[in-house]
Amino acid sequence: MINFAIVGMGHIAKKHIEAIEKAEGANLYAICDTNSDQLELAPSHVKKYTDLENMLIENKEIDVVCICVPSGLHAKLTKIVAEQKRHIIVEKPMSLKLEDAEAMLGFANENGVKLAVVHPNRFRPAIMKLQERMAAGSFGMLSHANATIRWNRNQAYYDQAAWRGTKEFDGGVLMNQAIHDLDLMLWLMGPVESVQAMAATRLRKIETEDVAAAVVQFENGALGIIEAATTVYPKNLEESLAIFGETGSAKISGRTANFVETWDFEDGTEEETEQLKQEIKADPFGKPGHQWIIEDMVQAINEDRQPIVTGEDGLAPVKLILAILESAETGKKIFLK
Ligand SMILES: NC(=O)c1ccc[n+]([C@@H]2O[C@H](COP(=O)([O-])OP(=O)(O)OC[C@H]3O[C@@H](n4cnc5c(N)ncnc54)[C@H](O)[C@@H]3O)[C@@H](O)[C@H]2O)c1
Repeated sequence: MINFAIVGMGHIAKKHIEAIEKAEGANLYAICDTNSDQLELAPSHVKKYTDLENMLIENKEIDVVCICVPSGLHAKLTKIVAEQKRHIIVEKPMSLKLEDAEAMLGFANENGVKLAVVHPNRFRPAIMKLQERMAAGSFGMLSHANATIRWNRNQAYYDQAAWRGTKEFDGGVLMNQAIHDLDLMLWLMGPVESVQAMAATRLRKIETEDVAAAVVQFENGALGIIEAATTVYPKNLEESLAIFGETGSAKISGRTANFVETWDFEDGTEEETEQLKQEIKADPFGKPGHQWIIEDMVQAINEDRQPIVTGEDGLAPVKLILAILESAETGKKIFLK
């Protein structure tokens, strides 16, 4: 059994707990939160701590720590966990600054521990099918891709904790919500060469952007269009990812990008498309992404390999978002290299 601990017993920790409890080969051993009231939400059978380093020093049995604290603290806690020679699963965004993400890669490498970043949307059934089509070359020459997230996060959402919507600890709609879609875009389309963007804080009282629009050019020459907002009235309207190429068009959509809307390929048939749409409709969410990430870490340790979503993968969307924000601020086209 691989023993897991969680640091940060807030909203997302609940998904980690569920995932660890369901995952084969994983055992939930301890939970740490600096706020002892939050520890009351932890399952009764686990050990509870208010200091991360003490938890790791006192419990050599812990193999992996899931970092579920506000995003601006990810790098600091990664350092503590890596120096205690434990493997790390860190929530998205990996960090809010490029130098933090680079430092995190260094902490993991220097201490010989594995570092995985939580990008659970990669494991959605429709997205995995899309990735298979991309890997098979079914799109032919790529034209462009589109990532749209039209969601609602009202003022009460931002007001529930002091760190939310801040530059130092959270970031805006790009770092917090759209990062999942940008991760998918980068994973499927490859690295971005340049970006031009605008961003604004329109409706929420926060330090960061609540709406952003960007156009990118990928290194392969294809274009990408990104629209991200948490301002949409009155509730989440759409999250979608579309890819267009010479011999294929696909769009995964819905309120969360889980359903196949368009699926047309020169090397496919209408029957296959209909069958896929029905198959996905019957089970749009599949096994929870967090469970995939936990089970993958168990296997990565047992097989001594890298996790599926590596620290380098986590750094890529952070770098892209920082370039989008820089373009929005300066009005200039930003090159990522
Ligand atoms: N993958 C996803 O889909 C997803 C979804 C939601 C949130 N997240 C990410 O998870 C992270 C946490 O978000 P949340 O919504 O759970 O936040 P939250 O505010 O609900 O919980 C954070 C917890 O961390 C604790 N904490 C703060 N500093 C600490 C420290 N130094 N040591 C130990 N505990 C500390 C707080 O007391 C709090 O209980 C963020 O990075 C967020 O972006 C990811």
